Amino acid sequence: MTPPPPRKPLIAGNWKLNKTIKEAIELVTLLKRLITDFQNVDVVVCPPFTALSDVSELLMESEIQLGAQDLYWEEKGAFTGEVSGALIKDAGAAFVIVGHSERRQFFHETHDTVQKKTKAALKNGLIPIVCIGETLKEREASKTFEVLEAQIKGAFTGFNKEEIQQITVAYEPVWAIGTGKVATPAQAEEAHAFVRGRMQKAFGEETAAALRILYGGSVKPDNTADLMREPDIDGALVGGASLEPNSFAEIVKNAGVAALR
Ligand code: PGA
Repeated sequence: MTPPPPRKPLIAGNWKLNKTIKEAIELVTLLKRLITDFQNVDVVVCPPFTALSDVSELLMESEIQLGAQDLYWEEKGAFTGEVSGALIKDAGAAFVIVGHSERRQFFHETHDTVQKKTKAALKNGLIPIVCIGETLKEREASKTFEVLEAQIKGAFTGFNKEEIQQITVAYEPVWAIGTGKVATPAQAEEAHAFVRGRMQKAFGEETAAALRILYGGSVKPDNTADLMREPDIDGALVGGASLEPNSFAEIVKNAGVAALR
């Protein structure tokens, strides 16, 4: 059997609830100047909805790609305040984050809503970055694998191989998000290997081998390379450090270098 193609790392910046349109334009203008080598790494920025179309215009000639932070699964209608996959696509995005732990925690997203959103993203030609990860309490109770298993089942039941091939997964231990407490490369690798193993069981070896699994949670320029050298870590979903142009560019650079592992 021929080995699967190597997975190109992806670094995605999740800006969360930050940046006005003007600030978004300033940040992306600097990123375009600072990030010029895309040979070994793909790069995505995910501004708030309000800045999507302006940033999209700014990225027309750039290899930096655009993502949204959430979507609603219905196409249109009486759903005040919601934004559909079609509208996100229309604003110029190619990616969308789905099921971030902050959405699960503060906005009561469930396995079911994560699954519907993932389906809706695919239907609209968006690449979903589906987030999973355990809380500190769950880790301390030795429930990490159990939680990941339930989240994988919850998100991907009913999907076929072709659909999974369009998806990116992000493992984000909740205790590492915004806390400065990054998972050790070994802790992250253990979880990533588990996720890939479950995906292999459900969707076959080839699909699992090609699946990009990002790590998220306090990724900074100085911990990127060590994480990225682990065999099952294929990039990062970066929150805080993606708001500052130099630190995000440095993460991208370090990921590209480590990718030559
Ligand atoms: P952080 O956030 O990098 O600020 O920890 C990561 C995320 O929530 O995606």
